[in-house]
Amino acid sequence: MVMGVVSWDHIVLVTLFLVFFILSDLELCNGGITSSYVRNDDLSLDMPIDSDVFRIPPGYNAPQQVHITQGDHEGKGVIVSWITPEEPGSSTVLYWAENSQHKSQANGFFLTYKFFNYTSGYIHHCSINNLEFDTKYYYEVGIGNTTRKFWFRTPPRIGPDVPYTFGLIGDLGQTHDSNRTLTHYELNPTKGQTVLFVGDLSYADDYPLHDNNRWDTWGRFIERNAAYQPWIWTAGNHEIDFVPELGEPKPFKPYTNRYHVPYKASESTSPFWYSIKRASAYIIVMSSYSAFGKYTPQYKWLVKELPKVNRTETPWLIVFMHCPLYSSYVHHYMEGETMRVIYEEWFVQYKVDVVFAGHVHAYERSERVSNIAYNIVNGLCTPISDQSAPVYITIGDGGNLEGLATEMTEPQPSYSAYREASFGHGILDIKNRTHMYFGWHRNQDGYAVEADSVWLLNRYWISSERSSVAALR
Ligand SMILES: [Fe+2]
Repeated sequence: MVMGVVSWDHIVLVTLFLVFFILSDLELCNGGITSSYVRNDDLSLDMPIDSDVFRIPPGYNAPQQVHITQGDHEGKGVIVSWITPEEPGSSTVLYWAENSQHKSQANGFFLTYKFFNYTSGYIHHCSINNLEFDTKYYYEVGIGNTTRKFWFRTPPRIGPDVPYTFGLIGDLGQTHDSNRTLTHYELNPTKGQTVLFVGDLSYADDYPLHDNNRWDTWGRFIERNAAYQPWIWTAGNHEIDFVPELGEPKPFKPYTNRYHVPYKASESTSPFWYSIKRASAYIIVMSSYSAFGKYTPQYKWLVKELPKVNRTETPWLIVFMHCPLYSSYVHHYMEGETMRVIYEEWFVQYKVDVVFAGHVHAYERSERVSNIAYNIVNGLCTPISDQSAPVYITIGDGGNLEGLATEMTEPQPSYSAYREASFGHGILDIKNRTHMYFGWHRNQDGYAVEADSVWLLNRYWISSERSSVAALR
């Protein structure tokens, strides 16, 4: 009995000491949060080629790998793409609005390509234009007994206070973890309406001879989502497929044949950089693996592009590219530095709200910082708090076969607000012209759980004196 009383006091004392110790430790911490969660670092294996997620749809020459993306600048157009394996069949898409008897058709085209010893199926691309905003459409591809029917919903008419929800997925690949990421995105109670994909799609180039059959399995894997909502594409390093020793010296061959984007609608000259408007967002896609120095086509395009953004029409300015400009992980450390030096100043000047990237197989969110004062002689090269700067979010945690980037630079730099090496996806939920909510979801959690979340207040519409980030944890 006496022993019991003594033990209780002891426990209370130890608990008080621990609380004091933890609080002191938090107080002294310079950077943000490095999550204590440590995933076991077993590499995730690709799903076997005969997995149900890669199933070939039944029927002779049935269309497969069906996916859609935005087809114009405003959101009234859709590009439908699919592959027929045996013969060209038809490149026509039949489509009709829900509750409408009238069926329209759009005529596309097909192409094929060879990659070393691989010959592609017939890759169809068909643009549907002048759709009504905020309308559910059904569409059908294929002919004869092997037609397949899908649907999508066009975005609302562009306007400053139009709510819209984007999903963020990057570096997906086709492992069991990739499948978990996609499932978690699909079952997230906050429903993403469009995926912003930050590059590195199939990881076919990790296979001998860049086995392009793995581009096909990947296309079949994502169809269950990408046939029903647009995926907005960015090219990553795993799309380069530059293999001159195999007689393949032209970069991006499989990617550009398979994934078309509406780059001409934003007066871009290349599918690797372009912009779209969607609901209340203006989205600029950049290419980490195309020339971006001064006088290059990408540079000249962005010089003209940024002043075109009308924040009264589309308050949210979102930029994404594959390689992060701010990342405190050891893997790929400072790979984005050359692009940061050239473009960060513009992101601050034009008050970009958020910059998404992938490449680093982990999650990280930055504070609002800039590092643009340096001029070779002044020595000012430390990131500083800057309320005109974007938040940088690395979301390259889709779950590919290369595994997670677990090693982090220490101590956590002050620009890094939260970092964790776990697979997952993001949800960017625009509420109105001033408020947008971002949540990061880990695959090991329940579908509704947010491991990190933040309110992002619009850089154009919110006075710079107000705090940019109000963490909800
Ligand atoms: Fe990458």
